[in-house]
Amino acid sequence: MLSVAGPHEKLIIGRDAHKSVVSGLILAGIVPIWVDPQWDPGLHLAHPPSADAFRAALAEHPDARGALVTAPTPYGTCSDLAGIVQVCHEHGLPLIVDEAWGAHLPFHPDLPAWAMDAGADICVTCVHKTGSGLEQGSVFHLQGNLIEPEVLKQRADLLGTTSPSVLMYAAVDGRRRQMVERGHALFGDALTLARETRARITAADGPRVHGHDDFCGPGRAADLDPLQVIVDISALGTTGYAVADWIREHHHVNLRLSDHRRSSAQLTHADNRDTADVLVAALEDAARHADRLRPARRVEVPDPAALRLEQVMLPRDAFFGRSEQVPWEKAAGRVCAEMLAPYPPGIPAALPGERLTTEVLRYLRGGVEAGMVVPDAADMDVTTIRVATEEP
Ligand SMILES: Cc1ncc(COP(=O)(O)O)c(C=O)c1O
Repeated sequence: MLSVAGPHEKLIIGRDAHKSVVSGLILAGIVPIWVDPQWDPGLHLAHPPSADAFRAALAEHPDARGALVTAPTPYGTCSDLAGIVQVCHEHGLPLIVDEAWGAHLPFHPDLPAWAMDAGADICVTCVHKTGSGLEQGSVFHLQGNLIEPEVLKQRADLLGTTSPSVLMYAAVDGRRRQMVERGHALFGDALTLARETRARITAADGPRVHGHDDFCGPGRAADLDPLQVIVDISALGTTGYAVADWIREHHHVNLRLSDHRRSSAQLTHADNRDTADVLVAALEDAARHADRLRPARRVEVPDPAALRLEQVMLPRDAFFGRSEQVPWEKAAGRVCAEMLAPYPPGIPAALPGERLTTEVLRYLRGGVEAGMVVPDAADMDVTTIRVATEEP
């Protein structure tokens, strides 16, 4: 982001961006032009924004310096990257892809296309998420001539330590070698395991596993990473948070991502039949004990139009400007001065510089009551909110 746009310059960004993207906005003083994700009202789930949405944003903001999209999303859904690349390149602008959840994509043709194959200019990917790196082992890939390697190097250097960890570098390099030598075979096995495990969870008469057809198609996602096993547990009459907590306590398994109606597990090339057995047994057991997980507090998820806040100040100005902590009931109408991002996945419901509404505040308060974690808030209970005291 720092190598594409400078202070007060515009970047077109899918609003389902991770908090780390918002950190980039804050540090760089970039003006975000938000593009809405595609909302599935039936599943209460946001899919990545469409290429047309980027086209419209670029037509309205021809002075933008580039665009950024998150793909895959933490749910494993992918955007039409080639389409978004085309739109950006028609304007001579670079596309940045936050491919945090896609470090494995290049290594098997049955996985969704990765950003570089789709023609993106730069992508950032977390080897520690879907690869075999140590935590913090993120890398970026650069191609084309829209971003100068020297500019990228100098600006990336601003964020790095001058004392890098040789362990981390060695792990990234080891992973590179592992993928070159055995990547195709390892992910071939992982894909087979994913197919079997998905079928076993569904056959167990338990919760439903979402597949390609649930998430992909016109107006929805372009593809789905089958290694993300997204389990809809709404039929159990409880929440994903309650199921994840129960499984952690009783089976010592950490599920990956939970929301008001889903929990998910991520399979990797390190999984095998034994680890899949643990997952299937844990989900079956949770289904058997569903009565103990009820009644789960309902989370009222307003429709996306109500959740969409107006950006009235630069994220940087709101974050670093004067602020005060006010009771949440009094925060509606005020400009947010902090990041309110339910974790995981860490997509901010409100970010610095957005004007808060009662709907968003109620959603966050209700979510916290039901088990949602909002770790970046100054008051993690979200009973008080940090808001700007000076407005433009
Ligand atoms: C979409 C997305 N982007 C970026 C990140 C940040 O990656 P890291 O945890 O390596 O800082 C995450 C982390 O969960 C993420 O989900």
